Amino acid sequence: MVATRGRQGDDCEAMREPIRVGLVGAGNIALGDHVPAYLELPELFRLVAVADPTPERRALVSDAAGLGDRDVHADTAELLARDDVDMIDVCTPQHLRRDLVIAACESGRHVLSEKPIATTPRDASQMIATARANGVRYGIVHNYLFRPEIVRILEIIRAGDIGPVEVAILNWLSVIDIPGAAAYRPTWRHDPSQAGGGVLMDMLHIVYLGEALLGRPIERVSAWVDARTEDAPVEEITLSRFETDRNAALVNVGWGQGPGGIAVSGPEGRIEVGYEDGASGAFAPFEQLVVHGRNGRVEETDLPPRRSITNVLADFGAAVREGRDPVATGEQGLHILEATLAVYLSAALGRTVGLPIEPGHPVYERGVAGLRELDLPDWSPIRRRRLFGVQ
Ligand SMILES: NC(=O)c1ccc[n+]([C@@H]2O[C@H](COP(=O)([O-])OP(=O)(O)OC[C@H]3O[C@@H](n4cnc5c(N)ncnc54)[C@H](O)[C@@H]3O)[C@@H](O)[C@H]2O)c1
Repeated sequence: MVATRGRQGDDCEAMREPIRVGLVGAGNIALGDHVPAYLELPELFRLVAVADPTPERRALVSDAAGLGDRDVHADTAELLARDDVDMIDVCTPQHLRRDLVIAACESGRHVLSEKPIATTPRDASQMIATARANGVRYGIVHNYLFRPEIVRILEIIRAGDIGPVEVAILNWLSVIDIPGAAAYRPTWRHDPSQAGGGVLMDMLHIVYLGEALLGRPIERVSAWVDARTEDAPVEEITLSRFETDRNAALVNVGWGQGPGGIAVSGPEGRIEVGYEDGASGAFAPFEQLVVHGRNGRVEETDLPPRRSITNVLADFGAAVREGRDPVATGEQGLHILEATLAVYLSAALGRTVGLPIEPGHPVYERGVAGLRELDLPDWSPIRRRRLFGVQ
């Protein structure tokens, strides 16, 4: 095994001690979800340090986690130089991840990273290779897999109540456009060079949910995208079809107003999930799950509460201790990033796109910036709307 500075899964003494975490990026998701999750799991984790260049954000996380002055860093290099950190949790915007993740892996720390893994497949591949070469665990926060209604749908599918899944329809057309931290750059999600895409890149949760409901890897993608406001730099609505070798998902995601909910069907029935007022999951409370299956109509309105990021952290901590991969690996993060970029490529070209995107392709190398190098038809919605800097 490659020597690492963090405690390893095969060290029996260390397995009884909490994993010591350095948090990199103290924005909204770190403060709102990661810090409370660490505090909920004291036997598994101890948050020992935070790094963020924005003083206001460092102060907020340090207060919430009860850190002392010497545990709060403006520069991640200082945090990585410490000898009391086993794992790095990267909660920065995605365009900053590659160098941070590579440095963390090379210093022998396990790495958990927010989604999307990166803005380009090339960066993601380099990060995955560095993690594997250094023998550390590398997980991506695909937390919607742990949402209670998703866990329940997957149980019902596994029980065979609707037969093998043929079609999954996921409507997320009323996503609320929540700005980033005010003290940093609240509009970074609308800058293609920082976000790597628009609403779908931000909500690529729905891409990995579609694949999880189909139960098979996505192989082909066809899509249409558009903007809802004048001069939008990134797409604000996407309608996509993801095909596997035997079933397909329709995934519709948009900022603004539109229907929400999930429907999954097979030869013997269907499962439908609704959120309050027909809006989108995570932005409106769960209302009901209805199964029309082998047992007739069954309605469920009470599901066990779960904090999805607490479950991601619990899985990652167990993966480190047990020396296994987490639920969402770097490789899965890369595959879902490519499926998301394939939506933009398909919409740009007006044709179905196969996965994986090959190394050397402009979109593999440069993400959405690579679309500018392609010869797009006049009617391409990406060209017509001048999305991602395409002229
Ligand atoms: N899993 C989820 O449900 C979920 C939800 C929201 C956001 N996210 C993801 O989390 C990430 C952060 O989103 P957010 O909404 O918290 O953003 P945010 O704008 O609220 O915060 C970004 C933070 O990163 C800090 N930062 C900038 N450069 C840095 C650097 N070099 N080193 C360390 N910190 C740096 C900023 O100062 C700021 O505090 C994004 O990738 C986003 O996609 C995931």
